[in-house]
Amino acid sequence: MTLSVCFLSAELAPWAKAGGLGDVVAALSVELARRDVETSVVMPRHRNPELERLAAGSRRVLDSADLQLGRHAFRYHVLSCPGPLGVQLFLVDCPELFDREGVYGGGGDEHLRWLLLCHAALALWRTIGRGPDVLHCNDWHTAAAALLLRADQGHPALAHTRSLLTIHNLGYQGVISAGLATELGLGDEALERLDAGDLRAGRINLLKEGIRAAHAVNTVSPTYAREICTPELGMGLHEDLSTRPGGVIGILNGIDTRTWDPAADPLLPVHYSARTPAGKHTMRTLLCEKLGLTPGPAPVVGMVSRLVWQKGIDIALPALEQALAEGSIAVAVLGSGERELESALGGLGQRFPGRLAFRQGHDEALAHWIEAGSDAFLMPSRYEPCGLNQMYSLRYGTVPLVRATGGLADSVQDFDESRETGTGIVFRDADSNAVAWALGRMVELFRTPARWNRLRANGMAVELGWERPAGQYVDLYQRLVRQPVP
Ligand code: ADP
Ligand code: GLC
Repeated sequence: MTLSVCFLSAELAPWAKAGGLGDVVAALSVELARRDVETSVVMPRHRNPELERLAAGSRRVLDSADLQLGRHAFRYHVLSCPGPLGVQLFLVDCPELFDREGVYGGGGDEHLRWLLLCHAALALWRTIGRGPDVLHCNDWHTAAAALLLRADQGHPALAHTRSLLTIHNLGYQGVISAGLATELGLGDEALERLDAGDLRAGRINLLKEGIRAAHAVNTVSPTYAREICTPELGMGLHEDLSTRPGGVIGILNGIDTRTWDPAADPLLPVHYSARTPAGKHTMRTLLCEKLGLTPGPAPVVGMVSRLVWQKGIDIALPALEQALAEGSIAVAVLGSGERELESALGGLGQRFPGRLAFRQGHDEALAHWIEAGSDAFLMPSRYEPCGLNQMYSLRYGTVPLVRATGGLADSVQDFDESRETGTGIVFRDADSNAVAWALGRMVELFRTPARWNRLRANGMAVELGWERPAGQYVDLYQRLVRQPVP
């Protein structure tokens, strides 16, 4: 029988994207549908003009459902419409919670938004009459669905359904006050399953509850799967993760090689490939013109990032400043996030005009231009569950400079000059000396074109698509389906 999988996600590119989660759910779901897995995605009807166009052709599969979360009463609908390439899309329509600017609100009702999404997904499948084989939850926003499924497992539509929780980022856990327990909308039995230690401490951790309830848990790279089982990177959940029966499985993300293809990228005015690399040089010139950079013979270093602690931008700043003062690099940065990081980058741009360009905001096209037009790409992350930009960089012939953590360690191999193997420059420590070392090594290699071209070609030859990881997910789904409910 055909395997059926339903993703529950806050994000789905291109309609709702704050980071890599949106890219991953979009590309993985399409790849699964291509393999004849019956694939659906349940997401909020976020405020987005393109999503509105999709919704215009939709039909209501769940009409005027009511949900009481503590003292809050909500009415919502679920719309069904064809999603991307063979994927069935279900939009949870609750304007009160989702018709807002941006995917995440960060307001006092954030937990209500995501709990409603989880409840709506289960109500949808109960109404349809047969749930998917696997309910694939992603991050804390949808982790509660694993808990709700346990409580609903007696329902004939859901008795066979298994839950998989993918952790894309342990840094966000959805911790709320224990006083809000009634707002989870759980029955008494399910409430009793909540972590007693947390309740005593006055809190409920939605990600932890999902980890405890899910039939399987995975994360987005093998190294991060190991790291989060240690106190250093487990962010308080290492014991829950390391003692889980079945452990934490690591599956390295792929990238959407159709969207991110230097030979056909519709967001680029010029195309190139490993065999026809001339366009990369043109893209570099165009990028520099667009951003007002005058690098001369120095390499252009790109960065596209959420500007948050995780990404280690603050660690890189002193090293960038030093290299800029020496005139050995030029830098193109696109990002938004914490005020202090934005103003530090803006300040560097003023001190080094023509050498560092900082563009604040979210700009899909510029992200592609920076990947294509830069010589190297810097990711000094403190931790990185997977990271997608280093893989985009490999594909775009842009040498990644990455810290050896999580998925960065799994997707970039340090260049070995004697054997000419490796795809980037990998540094170990989370400090500016390590970043300075990596920048220095990059500048050296860049001065020897034969070496540099080899390093770039090694990266461009790496297989990065979703074929392999999608196969690993299908294996995992099949194992789950065969497994009796514990
Ligand atoms: P994370 O999900 O932690 O932010 P990833 O590397 O997995 O990190 O994915 C980030 C995604 O978001 C990439 O597709 C990247 O190009 C994109 N991105 C991040 N910041 C911006 C921005 N300011 N403008 C456009 N795209 C961005
Ligand atoms: C998260 C992580 C990032 C990962 C992405 C997609 O946001 O920070 O490392 O690539 O999810 O899985």
